[in-house]
Amino acid sequence: MKNFEKAVARRGTNSLKWDSVAQDVLPLWVADMDFQTVPEVTAGLTELAKGGVFGYTLNSSQLFQAVIDWQANQHQLKLEKDSIVFIEGVVPAISVALQAFTEPGDAVLINTPVYPPFARTVKLNQRRLIENDLEEINGHFEINFTKLEAQLKDEAVKLYVFCSPHNPGGRVWTAEELEKIGSLCQKYQVKLVSDEIHQDFALFGNQHHPFLTIKPDYQDFSIILGSATKTFNIAGTKNAYAIIPNQDLREKFKNVQLKNNQHEVSSFGQVATELAYQNGETWLAGLKAKIEENIELVTAFTEENLPKVKAMKPEGTYLIWLDFSAYGLDDKALEKKMLREAKVYLNSGISFGQGGSGHLRMNLATSTELVKEALTRIAKVF
Ligand SMILES: Cc1ncc(COP(=O)(O)O)c(C=O)c1O
Repeated sequence: MKNFEKAVARRGTNSLKWDSVAQDVLPLWVADMDFQTVPEVTAGLTELAKGGVFGYTLNSSQLFQAVIDWQANQHQLKLEKDSIVFIEGVVPAISVALQAFTEPGDAVLINTPVYPPFARTVKLNQRRLIENDLEEINGHFEINFTKLEAQLKDEAVKLYVFCSPHNPGGRVWTAEELEKIGSLCQKYQVKLVSDEIHQDFALFGNQHHPFLTIKPDYQDFSIILGSATKTFNIAGTKNAYAIIPNQDLREKFKNVQLKNNQHEVSSFGQVATELAYQNGETWLAGLKAKIEENIELVTAFTEENLPKVKAMKPEGTYLIWLDFSAYGLDDKALEKKMLREAKVYLNSGISFGQGGSGHLRMNLATSTELVKEALTRIAKVF
């Protein structure tokens, strides 16, 4: 697809990804894309801007319907309108859920390495962080369920913040794995927040299962966080939603949202989400083909030209987890070598937790040309 052959020039646009690194550095870090979004989204936002009035807005019935249809058609998740709660971001929703479902001092479990705001939010909210380390088996991350059960029980865990599909490892969890997690949460009365922001990026024939589709009674203790922003490269419009079918959990969530005055969302975000879900299916198929191509390129290139680097081939997401530990560099030295010598900026693995030491995360939602350029620079230095 033509849309995905060239990266958009983003320097000088206040882009976090591009404008926070020096001119000669190639940035393949923070998870947004160097592609234009769905044309209908751009047209809709242009129309909104032309109107010249940007007052407070209601969540339109079309917006609710767009979310309901997307979840039903793409993910076989049947939703009632009432279960959807809009909020400005998935990360803010993690804070709200944490405050709604736990007290200071309560134990909150995450699987590490994982998206850094998980641990940060737990710690800054004075909850007790319990890290369940993922194990690398057969070239992908797996959960050690014996250890997980022991931790849920012994640490009296109150909340499990789960990443599905998983960032940075790109695991698309199987229905069996999700079922095991669900039954352990039921056994030990643990609530679960499933961050499914990467749900639309199940690749290579893998299938994403929303946590709430695994068993009907999982809605008694779990919620899903989702958004169109990662999928359609509209993160700057700030729009996301929590899916909370259980009334008691939903009231608790909404009360904290109100307490923090976080219950209103941007009109631009609402329009972008609605139009992306209504018009984005074909666009997304083209994007996923490009991401798969870039992933194959990185795995083949590293095997051939960087044999000391172990690339974890993702089953989903547009991120790839690269193990540089064979070089024996400490994390600061590794990051410095990549940035100062190779002139490529990647996310430092250690920021995802101790298990990320010696690793870097590369974002592949860019042109194949730029991925090749990054690989060439890396191979010259490493
Ligand atoms: C797992 C995960 N959750 C949440 C986010 C960001 O969510 P938001 O921008 O809606 O706060 C990201 C962004 O990369 C992510 O990878």
